[in-house]
Amino acid sequence: MVCNASWSQVNHSSLSYHQQLTSHTKAQLELNTTPFTINSMFSLLQGTHTPSSVHASPSGSPPSSTAMESQPQHVTQPTRPRRRIVVAMTGATGAILGIKVLIALRRLNIETHLVMSKWAEATIKYETDYHPSNVKALADHVHNINDMAAPISSGSFKADGMIVVPCSMKTLAAIHSGFCDDLISRTADVMLKERRKLVLVARETPLSDIHLRNMLEVSRAGAVIFPPVPAYYIRAASVEDLVDQSVGRMLDLFDLDTGDFSRWEGWEK
Ligand SMILES: Cc1cc2nc3c(=O)[nH]c(=O)nc-3n(C[C@H](O)[C@H](O)[C@H](O)COP(=O)(O)O)c2cc1C
Repeated sequence: MVCNASWSQVNHSSLSYHQQLTSHTKAQLELNTTPFTINSMFSLLQGTHTPSSVHASPSGSPPSSTAMESQPQHVTQPTRPRRRIVVAMTGATGAILGIKVLIALRRLNIETHLVMSKWAEATIKYETDYHPSNVKALADHVHNINDMAAPISSGSFKADGMIVVPCSMKTLAAIHSGFCDDLISRTADVMLKERRKLVLVARETPLSDIHLRNMLEVSRAGAVIFPPVPAYYIRAASVEDLVDQSVGRMLDLFDLDTGDFSRWEGWEK
């Protein structure tokens, strides 16, 4: 958690993903041969540390004084692009899971792109105290499910991954078949073809052979199937505890730590 929260705290740039990851930045990171600690990353981003690679020659030998004099005085500091995650909500029960994922990602300063199905809006209204408009306000960008021209529908749009939470059996079936007639199934399809992280919080019970087959084959295609099954060993005092634990484990899959739940540390003494 510390690592990701730290990045997010220091990186508030509003530049685009491509603008931030300049070739200059990439070159600096690739050439840097010193161990890259969290502290050095902080100081680098705060402008108090210059990576050795900025002044080192590619061969590793010390630069001549002439070479040093010819170095530009002002060196652009590298910035890490803000991470981007697509969040899709569908009409399976468990709207609160999607809402809590959005809240956690906002806290971790992850750029979110939200798509909601019609039945997600219905379950949000029925199951929670939120209005869909309040949920949309939690995201950085909201895309209409029928907008097949939205940026996230293309593999050329850089996103770190996607979570469908909750994921209905209908949307699972669409992803399984590659039938991309809405923005959720299309974006999930893009994640699979681009070999990016796709987490499906598939919710139904009991499960038919069709559901199980779809889950197995989508998993084989690269998705992670994450049924929102509670961990009873946490001895939850409330439903909220169970939701927080599930959301925490979902975001673990993106190397993000919500810090909102206790991890298993072995039997308590
Ligand atoms: C209150 C409520 C709960 C539902 N729960 C589930 C569920 O847990 N799993 C599921 O696959 N469908 C569930 N459905 C049915 C889906 O909403 C329905 O199949 C819908 O077509 C899904 O479309 P979508 O994936 O585009 O949101 C539920 C519907 C309602 C009204």
